[in-house]
Amino acid sequence: MAHALETVEECKILIDHPVLTAKVGRYSYRIERKSSQSSYSVSDGNKTVTLPIRWAMGGSYAIGQTYVLEKDAEFYESRVSYFSELNGLGPTLGSEGSTPTDVNEAAGRLMGRDDKLRCFGCHATNATVGRQLTLDKMTPGVQCERCHESIEAHLAAMLLDSFDLGSAKDLSKLHGLSAEQLSNFCGQCHRTWEEIALQGNLSIANIRFQPYRLTGSKCYDADDPRISCLACHNPHHEVSNKSVDYDAKCQSCHGGGKPGAKACPVSTDKCVTCHMPKLELPGAHHKFSDHRIRIVKPNEKYPG
Ligand code: HEC
Ligand code: HEC
Ligand code: HEC
Ligand code: HEC
Ligand code: HEC
Ligand code: HEC
Repeated sequence: MAHALETVEECKILIDHPVLTAKVGRYSYRIERKSSQSSYSVSDGNKTVTLPIRWAMGGSYAIGQTYVLEKDAEFYESRVSYFSELNGLGPTLGSEGSTPTDVNEAAGRLMGRDDKLRCFGCHATNATVGRQLTLDKMTPGVQCERCHESIEAHLAAMLLDSFDLGSAKDLSKLHGLSAEQLSNFCGQCHRTWEEIALQGNLSIANIRFQPYRLTGSKCYDADDPRISCLACHNPHHEVSNKSVDYDAKCQSCHGGGKPGAKACPVSTDKCVTCHMPKLELPGAHHKFSDHRIRIVKPNEKYPG
């Protein structure tokens, strides 16, 4: 999460790909690196607009990356994005439904005030104060102090302590939260159950909102820490993609530890491969793990 936003100077994807091109409908796109900056051009064959890229949203090589462009002191969300699975550009998620009428519209979508606050608010640290965008104070990415208040003071001491987390325990108000409180805490950015339930979107589009999906699972118990986000994820480390790493988490309840949680008649390992299937989100070029843990029926309709 520390790379959820990157500067153009440090953006690994743009450094590794000095030229990126794509054709979407009648528009041709080209992203080009010159020294430590990148520019973004779109052409309809007659007219070309070229804009500087100011920020890269979505870092590293996780899923993909969308660019924040600047024109006349306004920010635009790029209409094409980089997708790891394509190792190239494709239409930005959410833009597929509309057809731009000219090159300016084809370049990107004007980001309104709320848009900017929300985008940078979730992908960076100290980007907002109240309703004010504070890009001069911002640190790109989800850094320590985005989750921990006033951690800076403790950080130096902690590093001297060669990362002895125990000694800094009292700095964390996050310790000892219930499964439900954590779901809401992580849900500030991963979206809460309530936010998605109110939208009433029961399509596959909600696959990426883990707090919502998990709450809908029969395994979910608001008061049981064994099913909280932290039971399976340490926000200070990369997520593991080895299915066996999760077996012990499941077995803490299904291995006889919780009344009502039965044992599997089919297998004793790799639980998540069958019960948390990876499903393709159309347009995202990525398979998300469905956090609605369940028995998957053959040819089932997506359980919204
Ligand atoms: C300030 C917003 C924010 C909060 C709070 C937040 N996340 Fe994230 N998280 C993100 C963003 C943005 C990404 C996408 C990362 C990227 O593009 O590099 C992400 C990615 C992830 C990933 C997958 C990527 C990886 O390899 O690390 C996991 C797992 C994750 N978050 C878990 C959590 C958990 C658990 C919590 C609560 C303890 C949490 N997040 C709280 C914003 C947030
Ligand atoms: C409510 C918080 C929130 C807002 C607002 C938000 N994002 Fe994200 N974004 C996330 C989280 C969490 C993830 C990781 C999980 C996922 O892919 O859904 C993510 C993932 C992404 C990714 C894929 C990155 C990766 O590789 O994981 C891109 C690109 C992205 N966001 C761009 C944007 C842009 C551009 C905006 C503004 C128009 C925006 N986001 C607004 C929370 C947010
Ligand atoms: C996405 C949110 C998030 C980010 C970013 C984050 N933390 Fe944490 N941190 C947590 C949560 C949640 C806990 C509570 C863990 C628990 O209860 O087991 C925690 C606990 C801790 C603790 C106490 C450990 C304990 O066992 O109680 C320390 C120390 C800590 N974090 C340091 C850091 C440092 C240093 C960074 C930056 C490198 C950082 N955190 C970034 C969410 C985050
Ligand atoms: C019972 C275990 C479990 C719990 C609880 C859990 N997750 Fe996950 N999560 C997984 C597994 C397994 C993966 C897939 C890892 C992989 O193979 O890359 C995953 C992946 C993710 C990803 C990466 C997106 C993707 O699907 O590629 C995010 C983000 C995430 N989890 C967030 C959360 C949040 C937020 C919570 C709490 C609401 C949570 N998870 C609770 C097991 C769990
Ligand atoms: C906090 C304890 C807990 C954890 C952790 C947990 N489960 Fe469960 N799970 C339950 C309980 C309790 C039920 C039965 C609920 C019911 O039938 O009302 C259940 C039900 C299920 C079911 C049957 C659901 C259905 O559709 O009928 C499956 C499959 C399952 N769990 C798999 C898993 C897997 C795989 C994991 C790990 C990724 C896991 N569980 C983690 C408590 C848990
Ligand atoms: C190869 C796929 C696969 C794997 C791996 C797997 N399961 Fe299952 N599981 C199934 C299927 C299929 C069913 C439904 C069986 C039936 O209804 O006859 C099931 C049923 C269940 C049930 C419901 C049992 C009941 O009596 O209602 C639970 C709970 C469960 N699995 C948990 C787990 C756990 C925990 C793991 C890992 C230790 C696991 N599963 C690994 C395929 C799998």
